[in-house]
Amino acid sequence: MPKLVWLNGTVSPLESAVTSVADHAHLYGDGLFEGIRIYAGRIFKLDEHLDRIYFGCNFLRYEMTISKPELREIILDVCRQADIADGYIRLNITRGTGLGLDPKNIDRNPNVMVMISSLALYPPEAYARGLDVVTVSLRTLPPDTLDPRLKCIGKYAGNILAKFEANQRGAGEGLMLNQQGQIAECTGDNIFFVIDGIVRTPHRSCGMLQGITRNTVLELCAEHQIPAIEEVLTPYDAFTASEAFLTGTAAEVIPMVTLDGQPIGDGKPGPITQRIMELYRATTQTGVPFAL
Ligand SMILES: Cc1ncc(COP(=O)(O)O)c(C=O)c1O
Repeated sequence: MPKLVWLNGTVSPLESAVTSVADHAHLYGDGLFEGIRIYAGRIFKLDEHLDRIYFGCNFLRYEMTISKPELREIILDVCRQADIADGYIRLNITRGTGLGLDPKNIDRNPNVMVMISSLALYPPEAYARGLDVVTVSLRTLPPDTLDPRLKCIGKYAGNILAKFEANQRGAGEGLMLNQQGQIAECTGDNIFFVIDGIVRTPHRSCGMLQGITRNTVLELCAEHQIPAIEEVLTPYDAFTASEAFLTGTAAEVIPMVTLDGQPIGDGKPGPITQRIMELYRATTQTGVPFAL
């Protein structure tokens, strides 16, 4: 599939899209991103992703010159030009261009990129078998440093290091605890457990990305009378759960069957997880269509 990029108003193939080496995300990680999926010619949860990145721009005081409705139109148009049915959109917004930390000394015109690409995170077998997960040593950032709700580019160096640790230990994902030792999230996904027949995910106060897939799963549970709550969870809960699964735009809904080598429940994807996977697959077909 040809990969197409819209960068500050110009559309080009990925290979020829270039940005300045003095871009603030390149120099300091001072940028935000979203990963968005396209299913059957429709962009899934486009408005939710736009809301999240614009909240981030506001928080980081980026001086956005493109409005949310304008960027929405740009994304729909690039998808149309890419002419694909299924794929992945990488949306990046950085503060601007220039050397030096002080924003007042740089060109504060944000650099905006919309890249249309493809993505397959885990092979189909992983969805059938479930993932092995390990608790990694790296903790999530406390909210009084960089709020974990920000999908900030620089923050991901820590998540990548945590993913390295998970890989080295032969696991598909790494579970990250917060500074209090409570369960927060995985390196690139949110986490859910089923305990006493109730679907449970860490409470937002535990500090994690407010995943759009996580919200979708909570909404699906409400709609289909599957009891679900947000609460404080610790490793004790993980080891006494009957089922577990991870959620993310890239990973979608994937079962988690072991933690630190210990089986969760009977070590197989559970019935509630499978039901939620089905419901999620069905709902991915409801995105915003981009064909004229
Ligand atoms: C750290 C982290 N947690 C959770 C998620 C899941 O978020 P979403 O469902 O919005 O993709 C991601 C996705 O990129 C992530 O990077």
